[in-house]
Amino acid sequence: MRDWEDLEKAYLFDYAIAEDHRGQNIGVQFLKVIIANLVEQGFLKMSLTVDVENAPAIRLYEDKIGFEIKQHNRDEYGQGHDRYIMELDFNKFLESRNKLAK
Ligand SMILES: CC(C)(COP(=O)(O)OP(=O)(O)OC[C@H]1O[C@@H](n2cnc3c(N)ncnc32)[C@H](O)[C@@H]1OP(=O)(O)O)[C@@H](O)C(=O)NCCC(=O)NCCS
Repeated sequence: MRDWEDLEKAYLFDYAIAEDHRGQNIGVQFLKVIIANLVEQGFLKMSLTVDVENAPAIRLYEDKIGFEIKQHNRDEYGQGHDRYIMELDFNKFLESRNKLAK
């Protein structure tokens, strides 16, 4: 979804891989395809929110793609349900991918 004010920013919602297909690298590869498509459309960054205890998703976003934690929102989804706001700068993502390809 496109941000209302920052037109070069996309939001990722409800990203999920079918349970019996998890752990096969599909989540990281599909997200890379989505990002490449958004870059082609002229987007410059992406934002998402994730449960602070969702280790598989955080590892994927942070370690495999390069998202950064920008904010820690306490009790956002009810008491004890904290969320991270994570962001990815597509230029940084493309730079690190180009470095790896060399
Ligand atoms: C998060 C999710 C999309 C990952 O999809 P996936 O296809 O299983 O992930 P991949 O196989 O591509 O794994 C990529 C990386 O994510 C991390 N990861 C994935 N599953 C993990 C697990 N169970 N524990 C820890 N890290 C995990 C690892 O860093 C992994 O890389 P590695 O295998 O080299 O260690 C999937 O677990 C899912 O659909 N979860 C439920 C929905 C959800 O919570 N979505 C996030 C909403 S914000």
